[in-house]
Amino acid sequence: MNDLPLSEPSLLARDEGYWQRVASRYDIEPGPINLEYGYFGRMTRTVAEHYQAHIAAINRAGSLPVRQHFEQVGSLEIHAAVAELLQVPVNTVALTQSTSASMLSLIRNYNGLRPGDQVLISDLEYDSVKHAMRWLAHNRGVEVIEIRHPHPATFDNLLDSYRQAFERYPRLKLMALTYVTHRTGLVMPVQAIAACARAQGVEVMLDGAHALGLVDFTLDQSGVDFAAFNLQKWIGAPLSLGVLYIAEARLQAIDPDMSEANYRGDDIRSRAPCGTPNIPAWMTLPTVFAEHRAMGGAAVKGARLSYLRDLWVEQVRPLPGIEVMTPDDPRLYCGITSFRFTRHPDQAAMARRLLDEHNLFTVAPEGSACGPCIRVTPGFTTTPDDLQALVRALHELA
Ligand SMILES: Cc1ncc(COP(=O)(O)O)c(C=O)c1O
Repeated sequence: MNDLPLSEPSLLARDEGYWQRVASRYDIEPGPINLEYGYFGRMTRTVAEHYQAHIAAINRAGSLPVRQHFEQVGSLEIHAAVAELLQVPVNTVALTQSTSASMLSLIRNYNGLRPGDQVLISDLEYDSVKHAMRWLAHNRGVEVIEIRHPHPATFDNLLDSYRQAFERYPRLKLMALTYVTHRTGLVMPVQAIAACARAQGVEVMLDGAHALGLVDFTLDQSGVDFAAFNLQKWIGAPLSLGVLYIAEARLQAIDPDMSEANYRGDDIRSRAPCGTPNIPAWMTLPTVFAEHRAMGGAAVKGARLSYLRDLWVEQVRPLPGIEVMTPDDPRLYCGITSFRFTRHPDQAAMARRLLDEHNLFTVAPEGSACGPCIRVTPGFTTTPDDLQALVRALHELA
């Protein structure tokens, strides 16, 4: 893996020899073909070994080194490594337990809302984010505006859908925006939407659960001031790690956590929910980031998964009986893509048939406003043959 050739990500994406070497770095239980890497990714063997070693070391040593080293120095170094990964200043990131924890802190503690203001969500947001925004109605006296995005989505109609909402609801103050929706894998034109929102005085809270490690972006370019991520999907970290991002100039727009007593008001860590962290998982992060970079980072990982996605989508999009829900505009898709069987009403039942009859593990998430679907998410050990098996199954079942 240290032999990363100097190559365009799109060339590397189709270099099977390279991906076989990547695959050899993971331990994989034999079983059904996993096309549900959207839940969480695997750790490489090296990461898993380091994680286990940190668990054993902390368990042997107890709290003394945690108090004396980890709390004083180690955790600060880890925050600096997270900031480097995101290419942002260290005082803009705090570690949390998940994207959800970060998003909920942002939504709950945003202090810019007044009764009568409006907040915006769309049908593509994650359910916990929708619920948290609706919670604001009861607790801040705001009105929740819920929009449905057009289907099929295009760059322009997505942007228009927000433009129309901004025009129609002039008291909008805050909106949630999902970078990559877990429902269909649609990638939102974040930069364009954020610019439009900013021009209307609407603040954006970005749910980047699926974006980090899969989409090649910088927060600086995206133009959002508040964002949430996790590290277990596409970065390859142990479970239970999330990131909270607040632009330096906007820290005071988010109140400290309700239980906060440890950090000063100008320290972003005061904005994260309190509690004992998964210390061995945090300590593994430098290894995780080294592995992520050795694979080529988000540019190469994202290119590989989009390439694998194209392999199956190109073959099944024309099939009668199959509707691919995610567009082919390269700005709007990534490795995750959903489809539905148009002649079968129950997509969850079809996902079960894919597993029982074809050994293919997918998931049927609650659909967006455009209806129920089946989500296919390859990972870094997925092969073109695995996707041919999917294509054969869809031919047979459609
Ligand atoms: C769009 C989106 N937001 C939030 C989450 C929740 O992420 P976490 O498990 O890190 O809280 C997910 C998880 O799949 C997701 O897809």
